[in-house]
Amino acid sequence: MTRKISLSGVKPTGTLHLGNYLGMIRPALELAREYTSLYFIADYHALTTVHNGDDMRRMSYEITAAFLALGMDPGETIFFRQSDVPELFELTWILECFTPKGLMNRAHAYKSAMDANLAEERDPDAGINMGLYTYPVLMSADILLYGSHAVPVGQDQRQHVEIARDIAQAFNNNYGEVFVLPEAVIQKEVATIPGIDGRKMSKSYDNLLPIFAPAGKLRKRVMRVVTDSRPPEEPKNPDECNVFNIFKHFGAPEEIQAMRELYQRGGFGYGEVKQRLYETLERTFGQAREKYEALMNDLPVLEEILLDGSRRARKMGAPIMEKARKAIGVRYQR
Ligand code: TRP
Repeated sequence: MTRKISLSGVKPTGTLHLGNYLGMIRPALELAREYTSLYFIADYHALTTVHNGDDMRRMSYEITAAFLALGMDPGETIFFRQSDVPELFELTWILECFTPKGLMNRAHAYKSAMDANLAEERDPDAGINMGLYTYPVLMSADILLYGSHAVPVGQDQRQHVEIARDIAQAFNNNYGEVFVLPEAVIQKEVATIPGIDGRKMSKSYDNLLPIFAPAGKLRKRVMRVVTDSRPPEEPKNPDECNVFNIFKHFGAPEEIQAMRELYQRGGFGYGEVKQRLYETLERTFGQAREKYEALMNDLPVLEEILLDGSRRARKMGAPIMEKARKAIGVRYQR
């Protein structure tokens, strides 16, 4: 039996951190066992905000190196760069002609940018480019081009997958079954992890623990995790402590249990548990970091993997594009 297809994309927009690992990278690696899985760097989505070519290139390579270093098998997962698939833009135009403008007016990213303008009494469209406005159509093309069944995304992307489904349905209603109707797969318990200041780990708070920082820098960041001022001897509630709430995602089950008991007993300093957290992170990511650094020093290898991925992705997209072209009555090759 042929396996179902899962597809997801990630924008190259910032330093990869432990929150990305738990929320995106690890789930993607797990899904690859069950599905024929496509994963891509959404560089043309990032272009709505990233307007520096060097940044775009570097972050695209960083994501590729990260996935490889953390165990992705590029022979299995089709890993590629969105911009290496020219058919995507042909399909984007086709889909635009089946996208009600009102649907785009209601899309979250555009709406919240517009609401922010209104709140500041600016022109409602100030600073909003057409790329941001039509973002959901490009994303629909990403999804529909390869016949994706499942689209693993965070809650914030659910609406985009629903838009893809609506557009596919509008097209299919007119021409017959051309596109697979995709479904969003939202992780039930997206692991949220506190940053070093205790708020959700997020690049906008500058509170990250990076996955691939050099050991010394990582240790320094870990030592800065905010804790309360209870004296060492006092028992503590582990669930209220940022150090524990990061540790629990990476320690082995018996280590987590032991750490829990230590908190409840008291009689330790925060420096001690931070050191343990650091050692655990080092054990989890130390080897991956070496691999990551080696890959970042060998860009032609990354380029080769991305090109091979795009060849395979284009092969999967080709018959669907042919069907679409034939349906709408433009040139097609069979
Ligand atoms: N919009 C997604 C994000 O911001 C990235 C993305 C682009 C994507 N195309 C996609 C995700 C297709 C899933 C499927 O995270």
